[in-house]
Amino acid sequence: MEILSRIRDQIHRDFIQKTPASKELYARANSVLPGGVSGNLRFFPPYPLYMSSGSGCIVTDVDANDYIDCFSANGPMLLGHNHPEVVEAISSTQTLGSLPLNPEVMIECAELLTELVPCAEQVRFLNTGTEAVMTAIRIARGFKNKDKIIKFHGHYHGQQDQFLFGMDTTDAMFSDGVPRDAVSTTLIHRYNDIDAVRSTLESDDEVAAVILDPAMHAGGLWGSSKEFLEKIRALTSKHGVLLIFDEVITGFRLGTGGAQAYFDVTPDLVTMAKALGAGEKIAIVAGSREVMSVLDPNAPAGTPRVFQSGTVNDGAPALAACVAAMRVYTELEKQGEYEHLFDRTERLQKFIESAFTTRGLNCQANRVASMLQLYINPVTVDFESAGGVDYVPVELFYTGMINEGVLLSLPTSNHIYMSFAHEDKHIDLIESKVEKVLDKYGFDDLAIS
Ligand SMILES: Cc1ncc(COP(=O)(O)O)c(C=O)c1O
Repeated sequence: MEILSRIRDQIHRDFIQKTPASKELYARANSVLPGGVSGNLRFFPPYPLYMSSGSGCIVTDVDANDYIDCFSANGPMLLGHNHPEVVEAISSTQTLGSLPLNPEVMIECAELLTELVPCAEQVRFLNTGTEAVMTAIRIARGFKNKDKIIKFHGHYHGQQDQFLFGMDTTDAMFSDGVPRDAVSTTLIHRYNDIDAVRSTLESDDEVAAVILDPAMHAGGLWGSSKEFLEKIRALTSKHGVLLIFDEVITGFRLGTGGAQAYFDVTPDLVTMAKALGAGEKIAIVAGSREVMSVLDPNAPAGTPRVFQSGTVNDGAPALAACVAAMRVYTELEKQGEYEHLFDRTERLQKFIESAFTTRGLNCQANRVASMLQLYINPVTVDFESAGGVDYVPVELFYTGMINEGVLLSLPTSNHIYMSFAHEDKHIDLIESKVEKVLDKYGFDDLAIS
């Protein structure tokens, strides 16, 4: 504990010295914004950074400090900040106005999505991942005329009440203010426990859908096996239950076809957001024509009617950004750039692990494609044991990296998202800073404590 306090004092002292303008803005923000931020996860101690701009993989704070940004706004900035083709596409809509009503770019965007995403025959646009998941669930319930949904421990599906529990190995609520009743139709299982899902589906015919995040991102980035996804696909098909892939994280990050193309397992419905809009506010729910027909006001009599409408569901700038981003992703995929990005991320993963090992410490860097999460702990952990790991060393390591000009993750988030804007030279620099931070702040003292 004494060693951690010493490391924290040194790191926070350097942080405060480097960021006086952020400190001032925090004092101002704190009186009008809870925690000085607009989202609980954006706060970190001693106070959050306030950024003034971003370009490529570099973000600049209000003190004019540059950082190599590997947090990528919690995922969306897979192309980097201010990507020229995305910026150009947004500007081109300025003559149209934001909401001209049913702009043609909406159709173009949906057409592209149906070409790229295996399960997508029809698309509905929304603004956030939370909204997309909420809509997918209502579609599933309406289509099947059943209420229950199976979710998994450690899988986050946005802010809606019915899924805000079971983020660790327990069934604990993730937030105050969520009525226990709100989760009464959500059944929860251990991820990868196919027998538990089978037994529920065999004994309960009120289940409308199974939902999962193929990266298992929020619960620690433990990923999915193709085998489990194949089994759950077979099981849900057998029991006439819909399978929903929540690809808010994995959509376009694992490739232009998302996790469903990556694992070659096609769900009935998909949700996407984040990388889809390259920083603009856009999300989708998509699926087969048959399932999506519940949203169609012209569907034949007898079709279930599911209500969904949102005032800003067809905003032209976001749709144009999305089209541009999808075209760039497609080109990058053709050029083999997704593999290069995964390789660069793997290189960083191995480097971080070995930099800690060399100093007598153990750091486990979980990786799925271009994403990493770190665990600094004497022994290797899995999802079941990760809850017992002291997070403070990781938080301090990330804050130390900020002091050295690398926003590897927000210290309290543990979310590293590498982007196409990171070149080898950036990885070289990040690696040298990892070593510098470990040595400058004496993390190796933790090895002998
Ligand atoms: C898998 C998954 N689903 C849904 C969401 C919610 O998305 P949003 O924050 O855009 O509402 C998230 C957010 O991180 C997510 O990771």
